[in-house]
Amino acid sequence: MRVLVVGGGGREHALVHSFAQSPLADRIFCAPGNTGTAAEADNVPISADDLPTLLDFASREEVDLTVIGPEAPLVAGLTDLFEEHGLAVFGPNKEASQLEGSKVFAKEVMADGGVATGAYRRHERLESALLDVEGREDYPLVVKADGLAAGKGVLICKDKAEAREAVHACFVAREFGGAGDVLITEEYLTGSEVSLLVLCDGGTAVPLAPAQDYKRIFAGDQGPNTGGMGSYCPVPGFEQKAIDAAMEHVVDPVVAALRKRGVSYRGVLYAGLIVTDAGVKVLEFNVRFGDPETQAVLPRLDSDLLEHCAAAANGELGGSKVLWKPQDCVTVVLASAGYPASSHKGDVITGLDDAAALDGVTVYHAGTALQDGQVVTAGGRVLAVSALGDGFAAARERAYEAVGKIAFDGMQVRPDIAERAVKARAGELDLFPAGFAG
Ligand code: GLY
Repeated sequence: MRVLVVGGGGREHALVHSFAQSPLADRIFCAPGNTGTAAEADNVPISADDLPTLLDFASREEVDLTVIGPEAPLVAGLTDLFEEHGLAVFGPNKEASQLEGSKVFAKEVMADGGVATGAYRRHERLESALLDVEGREDYPLVVKADGLAAGKGVLICKDKAEAREAVHACFVAREFGGAGDVLITEEYLTGSEVSLLVLCDGGTAVPLAPAQDYKRIFAGDQGPNTGGMGSYCPVPGFEQKAIDAAMEHVVDPVVAALRKRGVSYRGVLYAGLIVTDAGVKVLEFNVRFGDPETQAVLPRLDSDLLEHCAAAANGELGGSKVLWKPQDCVTVVLASAGYPASSHKGDVITGLDDAAALDGVTVYHAGTALQDGQVVTAGGRVLAVSALGDGFAAARERAYEAVGKIAFDGMQVRPDIAERAVKARAGELDLFPAGFAG
């Protein structure tokens, strides 16, 4: 099979790395890829947003399956374009991708399916949004730009002043461009978050093992939000019963509600769940693999990801058996100086081979580049180091041992990734509210 992976981050390196283990893979391309994917695939210098050039390339190279990593080309309709030209794609079409591309669309589909989520109000005008935030007392309040805003469109406002600012950022300063033409104000939910990635073929939906990620830059969940500073898989306390319930009450109704609208969902559906005192609710949907969840989920997969993706693209997931290794996985992200406000480029990275040589460790590249024969930083999130271990304590120890071998100027690492998973496994901490039937 000739495979094209679209994207160039840590998630795409993880996909390429898994595909490279598959006996089904004859040739793997990655567009545009990164320094890590270059070692396992043929990087192609085409941006993930350049739809016509991607189509020309895939047609010319007779690509059998295209797997789309990031949300932007999905929302822009890359799947539709490829399918119109007879090319098989793992990734939802433009309409299905509105689950991530429009918060309002996602809320409406959830309402159709009777799926539990935070209460919200929709606004198209400054005046109505300001009236809303002035008139309510249920702070903190979430203000979200409706469209895709490169991960920056969700603002948690602790009081009315912050909510007014968020509304102005959207409608007056236009900080999110067209993504902020509509906003929603949403009930702030508290609880423990779980990322459930589900493979879908338009009919059958098969969950992958659940994961948790760490969004804040500093230890103890302090500081600004990032794209994700680490993750672990599976999630102690969110066991098969909880996965089955999430499929029954969240994923299946959403896929069915889409189908009623004439929309078939094929690809991975990322359900961002929160377990509250009042049960499991949906925080968000993404229409792609999570980053850095993918880097913690895939090392545990004991069956062929490429076979699963091809089966999903062809509507044949029913015959695919997804298998898991018994080990736990911990992923630690290494970020560059200044992240998340900015990123520092050109800092030389050392120790990559020593880290990767450790048993059970994989080093995934994200923001790296080759400069004069050396690997240097080239983005905010630079690397993700994943380690498998017999139990979370062993996986965590190995992950940080590997991280300790890598160095670059200004390297930022959270020291507490998966600490809570270790404690939960040891019975010292409940990740979920008492009475949650995980
Ligand atoms: N880890 C969050 C995301 O991929 O959106």
